[in-house]
Amino acid sequence: MSTLHPDIEKVLFSETEIRRRVIALGRAITRDFRGKDLLLVAVLRGSFIFLADLVRAIQLPCALDFMAVSSYAGSESTGIARVTLDLKKSPVGKHVLLVEDVVDTGLTLARLRGALKGRGVRSMKACAFLDKPSGRRRVARIDYRGFTVPDGFVVGYGLDYNERYRNLPYLGLLKRRVFEHPGKADL
Ligand code: PRP
Repeated sequence: MSTLHPDIEKVLFSETEIRRRVIALGRAITRDFRGKDLLLVAVLRGSFIFLADLVRAIQLPCALDFMAVSSYAGSESTGIARVTLDLKKSPVGKHVLLVEDVVDTGLTLARLRGALKGRGVRSMKACAFLDKPSGRRRVARIDYRGFTVPDGFVVGYGLDYNERYRNLPYLGLLKRRVFEHPGKADL
């Protein structure tokens, strides 16, 4: 049991809860993609911890690649989703599974789907560690979902606020004072 960070209001999902959920996702993906040429495309950078756990819960051969989309400044979405890193290898013939840490407005997922469409992939599905439906501005189809979270700033397990808190092993709700009065954050 890790100590609660002073900037965290409460733990939404503990390490144990996350581990159990990710294993269940891995099982579902293993079942659905058996016999298919699977390519996991992770969205940097927030998904790096989720990806590391998820890939070890998938009992199939699979390839990995990365993309990055820039859409945020501070706590507010700018609404601009620009591809800043593209795949290293061609996805032709692959069954692609997009791996996201959180789907909020849905802009990132829409941008990624758009960027991969017409590139010869056999199928495209999405796996999100978190779904935050309250923020949605685009329809976003999520085929595998870890948890649904309410409105509020969530951090940890790869998710940041201004590049901090990514290394918290749990998913926590950030105290309002941290983003309302940034100078007063602890640590
Ligand atoms: C976050 C998160 C998702 C995206 C989802 O990325 O990692 O990729 O926003 O938001 P959306 O559904 O509103 O588009 P961010 O741009 O903060 O970068 P990061 O992954 O490097 O933290």
